[in-house]
Amino acid sequence: MARAEDGYDLWLRYAPLDDGMAADDAAALGPVTSASAPTPTIIAARSELERGLAELLDGHEPAGRGIVLGLARDLDGAAAREAATLEGQPAGAYRIARLADGRILIAAQDDIGLLYGAFAFLRHLGAGEPVSTIDDISAPAFSLRIIDHWGNPSGLVERGYSGRSIFDWWHLPDRLDPRMIDYARAEASIGINGVVVNNVNAKAYVLEPRYIAKLRRLADAWRPYGIRVYLTARFSAPMELGATGTADPLDPAVRQWWKDKADEIYAAIPDFGGFLVKANSEGQPGPQDYGRTHADGANMMAAALGDRGVVLWRAFVYSAEDSTDRAKQAYNEFVPLDGKFADNVILQVKNGPVDFQPREPFHPMFGAMPHTKLMLEGQITKEYLGFATHLAFLAPLWKEVITADTGHGGVVAQNLVGMAGVANTGSDRNWSGSHFDQANWYAFGRLAWDPRMSSGNIAQEWAAQTFSRDPGFLAEVVPMMLGSRQAVVDYMTPLGLAHQMGTGHHYGPAPWICDLARPEWNPCYYSKADAGGIGFDRTATGSDALAQYAPTVAAQWRDPKAMDEDYLLWFHHLPWDFKTQSGRALWPELVHRYDRGVAEVDAMAATWASLAPNVDEQRFEDTSEFLAIQQREARWWRDASIAYWQSVNHLPLPEGAAPPA
Ligand code: GCU
Repeated sequence: MARAEDGYDLWLRYAPLDDGMAADDAAALGPVTSASAPTPTIIAARSELERGLAELLDGHEPAGRGIVLGLARDLDGAAAREAATLEGQPAGAYRIARLADGRILIAAQDDIGLLYGAFAFLRHLGAGEPVSTIDDISAPAFSLRIIDHWGNPSGLVERGYSGRSIFDWWHLPDRLDPRMIDYARAEASIGINGVVVNNVNAKAYVLEPRYIAKLRRLADAWRPYGIRVYLTARFSAPMELGATGTADPLDPAVRQWWKDKADEIYAAIPDFGGFLVKANSEGQPGPQDYGRTHADGANMMAAALGDRGVVLWRAFVYSAEDSTDRAKQAYNEFVPLDGKFADNVILQVKNGPVDFQPREPFHPMFGAMPHTKLMLEGQITKEYLGFATHLAFLAPLWKEVITADTGHGGVVAQNLVGMAGVANTGSDRNWSGSHFDQANWYAFGRLAWDPRMSSGNIAQEWAAQTFSRDPGFLAEVVPMMLGSRQAVVDYMTPLGLAHQMGTGHHYGPAPWICDLARPEWNPCYYSKADAGGIGFDRTATGSDALAQYAPTVAAQWRDPKAMDEDYLLWFHHLPWDFKTQSGRALWPELVHRYDRGVAEVDAMAATWASLAPNVDEQRFEDTSEFLAIQQREARWWRDASIAYWQSVNHLPLPEGAAPPA
């Protein structure tokens, strides 16, 4: 019977290998055994291997010497020597090797390393690698690899585009949806080891005992998969829950309340990860309501957790009362506090200084706080990149940031203790709202494990496991994915423009909006378009946000004639006739980029159309229909944006530009 091709299995499809390969691999593989006593994690690793192999080998009986899972301390001989290569590696590291006697060894120093190793072995096979060449040693780059869910207890998900929340809060703790296990398998397969279950705009009541019981059920189910649960804590919770008259972090009763709350949570969930906090941002309560600093607030919660967990304190703050360039506010707020945060406080910093735009320069806080732990927050759900409908593979976006040289010594990735991604999962059958958005979930986990992986390798691995191992298919689909995010940048916000989306929903174009009370919520605030020119002057003649970067980095972006034009209008306000590097004036260059984005989406649709023979009908159709929407909406973006700029600059459509659709 044909398997259901609705996307539920994600990249863990284990689609049968072609017959020849399955037969060869079956001859080299054998039964799965464990040299170590079974723990829930080791049992999960074995059962995943058994399940994966049965499906990949498709009826061919494994006839080789076998696959051995083993903790280093339980191995001897050649296996022990292979496992010894892991010495000094962090938790979760694994080694996959073929021993001289023909056995395949999956070794680790801890249980979770065995599970990660099992998934890695299946990934190699699933991507079409023959058993004989699989040889792998791998360790996670960061200890914190976290997914942030933005769902509310009501089931509605903030900026979520794939249905309702995956958490069935109503029936928890009595019923555990079996999806929670498939979810944990998916997260573990890409190395995710922490999940924040509720929205950053948190309700206080999730800290009540009834929710702790629900959380406990999830924590128990996920523990074998190495996933620790975290909660977003609302800063004013003790007050809102009626326990104190204030939420002042220096008030003894408030401090005691958080300590008692932490003790209560740890009694139920001994490996609770900690609290995520959005404070004094977009109307959320925080320590500044009491004249205290972010450090006072974060350290108070950190003291309550002690060495049991961490406080993930978000740096996404900007204020209605502050007229400073929004892109500068977080740095201004936090950098002076460098060194003042407790050891178990981690500042969670969005990839760019504004808000998950199709392209932003890296956040100036990276590298600028040497005495503070920082974590990067990326958004997997595509709030500003066409939701789940538009195809945009985000690995290149995150790679741009984590490989950026901070100018303070090292690239961004070297300044991090972890990565957190805002989830794109929901109740949709395919989890992510579109088949290709699964790739973003996958890519985020892979980069949090190994930020050195290339976007191309990630796309290749994902597409081979998810759709087809056919080299002809991969040769088409991988470049299509790799170009997709730049296409979105081009048709939405080319040349460093940002935040031109309709206010509120953030979907379609609305560069004309300029009348909202909070200036920084208006698209016109970011474009600064007028008859004389376009772009945000962030040099010394403007907001001087440039000065927040290390001198070498600022120097790269100071001269509009010589800089990387992908950031041009982010940093500079330029006349419409400014000469760009292509030789075109700014206006025709801008129009050219909109056209280029539209053309790229047309090319993506044509590429996909040619791949029908490689993809099952259901997923082929789903993707084709979304691409058709994207083609239409890329034109909408281009035409509406150009029409608006023309109403400001009164310039004709440049010669050769595509006419409006
Ligand atoms: C964006 C998003 C909000 C979200 C916020 C945050 O502004 O639109 O819905 O709450 O980011 O990250 O806190």
